[in-house]
Amino acid sequence: MFNIKISQTIGLVLISATLLIIVGIFMDALKKEISYDDEMFTETGSRNFSVWLKGINIPKSLEHIAYVSQDRIDQWLVDITNASKAYPTFCNTGDDKLDKYEFAAFLTIIGSETEFTYGFPCTHEQGCPDCTHCSYNTNGLQCLTDDKLQYFGRGPVQLSWNYNYADFSQSYFQDDRLVKNPTLLDSNTELCWASAVWFWMERHDYGGWCMPQAGWDQHDTCDAKCPNGPSGCSLSQCSDAHWLPRKNGSCHDAMHSSGSIGQVINIINGGYDCCPTTTYFAGFGHTLRRTEWWATIVVSWGLGLPWSQVDPVPINECPRAVGHINCTPLKENPENCWTCCTEKN
Ligand SMILES: *[C@@H]1O[C@H](CO)[C@@H](O)[C@H](O)[C@H]1NC(C)=O
Ligand SMILES: *[C@@H]1O[C@H](CO)[C@@H](O)[C@H](O)[C@H]1NC(C)=O
Ligand SMILES: *[C@@H]1O[C@H](CO)[C@@H](O)[C@H](O)[C@H]1NC(C)=O
Repeated sequence: MFNIKISQTIGLVLISATLLIIVGIFMDALKKEISYDDEMFTETGSRNFSVWLKGINIPKSLEHIAYVSQDRIDQWLVDITNASKAYPTFCNTGDDKLDKYEFAAFLTIIGSETEFTYGFPCTHEQGCPDCTHCSYNTNGLQCLTDDKLQYFGRGPVQLSWNYNYADFSQSYFQDDRLVKNPTLLDSNTELCWASAVWFWMERHDYGGWCMPQAGWDQHDTCDAKCPNGPSGCSLSQCSDAHWLPRKNGSCHDAMHSSGSIGQVINIINGGYDCCPTTTYFAGFGHTLRRTEWWATIVVSWGLGLPWSQVDPVPINECPRAVGHINCTPLKENPENCWTCCTEKN
């Protein structure tokens, strides 16, 4: 009897516990349904990045976007959300306008680095600008025949150079597997977008001798003999015209602190785009077009454009652009104004 009572009690307890669990699950589901799903804000009150990103409309007028299906764009947004989990402030500081300026800059860089490649920006660089530099390896700039050891551009921001592969590999894998096999980036979507967000969020050294610009054959000599720039250097050919002040910063900080698309351009590709002597300045995908591209996206989102960032571009960060870009036609007709900016002489 006693035993039966015990088992009855146990039974009751078990039934109650089961009920509680079921109610608990139900309440939990209800709570999730009410407070998180498709809400702009997460449980902790911060903005839900994936929901915010889904509300972003990538302007169809953007060059090359016409060749990208909406399905592919939707997939990017999923991949970007996933990659940004490691960097929760990526385009997500809570300052809506600055976050949009930042995302516009990120799109600009993907577009100008990869031309969106029909929706598959996880590809590798197609034409090295200069064969002697195509390995992008500071330990030897010779052209390597082994594709597995080419540190040329890969992925949405075209991660390049052995030291960038090394740093990203350490950050992502805590080892140097991407140095041994950089082609891993070509085949893995997650890794490829992670490299783009990593590059964007981390601080990098930039500036120095203008490189790797084809046609300027003194680069190596200047770099080796005058590591601190032209001042005090006795090599007359290594002049200010080939030098950008050395700095340290991230693209993310550039868009939030100095608010400068020009600084982003300098960090990403200053050797080509900001060098005082660059011949790439007005070419496809370079300084002029990047600036205009960014302005086009920002205007399409109905945000006021900080013209000080566009004309001249930018304050003290991209010397070749300062005073050389004329965006007056874009100012006067901000909608559908493609190739409006021109080079001033
Ligand atoms: C953000 O919203 C999506 C879609 O509703 C949801 O799946 C996700 O769990 C939310 N994320 C956070 C951190 O709340
Ligand atoms: C997101 O990333 C995780 C690893 O960080 C991976 O397991 C998952 O498959 C990814 N999800 C998508 C939708 O790519
Ligand atoms: C630039 O920033 C990175 C990351 O904070 C750091 O590792 C590196 O030493 C910095 N370089 C200089 C020159 O300050």
